[in-house]
Amino acid sequence: MASPQPLLRVRGIGKRYGDRVALQDASFDLWPGEVLAIVGESGSGKSTLLNAVAARDKPDAGSVQFQTRSAGLREVFAMSEAEQRLLARTDWGFVHQNAAEGLRMDVSAGANVGERLMGLGERHYGRLRATASEWLARVEIDPARIDDAPRTFSGGMRQRLQIARNLVTRPRLVFMDEPTSGLDVSVQARLLDLLRQLTRQMQLAAIVVTHDLAVARLLAHRMMVMQRGRVVEAGLTDQLLDDPQHPYTQLLVSSVLQP
Ligand SMILES: Nc1ncnc2c1ncn2[C@@H]1O[C@H](COP(=O)(O)OP(=O)(O)O)[C@@H](O)[C@H]1O
Ligand SMILES: [Mg+2]
Repeated sequence: MASPQPLLRVRGIGKRYGDRVALQDASFDLWPGEVLAIVGESGSGKSTLLNAVAARDKPDAGSVQFQTRSAGLREVFAMSEAEQRLLARTDWGFVHQNAAEGLRMDVSAGANVGERLMGLGERHYGRLRATASEWLARVEIDPARIDDAPRTFSGGMRQRLQIARNLVTRPRLVFMDEPTSGLDVSVQARLLDLLRQLTRQMQLAAIVVTHDLAVARLLAHRMMVMQRGRVVEAGLTDQLLDDPQHPYTQLLVSSVLQP
């Protein structure tokens, strides 16, 4: 059953860079446990929208409200920076396309996972190590690599480590910007499988930015299609891919999904 209130309520988000309008009047709700894909070609404003909603980059207009654990629906941009930071490292996660932006490349894999737990006040070394080891296994990294730095990992392993680092605090909402894009096709497929499993198991709500409709089809319950900074179509993933209404979506679907 749907909860009476969304986890995230986004209204009228806009952003310009100088004269260029990067994003105009984007609105949506996200429900607990729901995965939303934001698709569109390069430059359509997907990352701008994601970064605005995740409070990483302040928009010029609009509102983002998040259902906090302690105080109900709150306007994210009215929170203090300290509150925003706390949210970002506990109840939210952010998975970057480039793992180096989301990891500390020179500290151990274990420390990368343990850091967010320490941010929540966990100080017990044995427990931190045990939890980190458990999470490495969950993302299919050999726990024997716990003391190795991500610099020594392959691209796919780095991305899986970034996911472990984000999920260890059991966030309710994870933002992902092209999480599989930099990887080889076979590595992408495995990572997608893992993401699908984890989002289902943890009933994680997620917003996944992707230019790849196959990623949306595999992961997302709902999708939003962007073109030139505007949302041109939104709906249930299956319906939207089977029966796209907007000419741009029709073009995307016909050019990508057909052999
Ligand atoms: N920091 C920036 N400075 C100037 N223009 C930017 C900046 N970031 C994005 N843009 C512009 O905003 C538009 C949307 O970009 P972006 O959100 O990154 O698109 P997408 O993620 O869909 O590829 C593009 O025209 C891009 O060139
Ligand atoms: Mg982008």
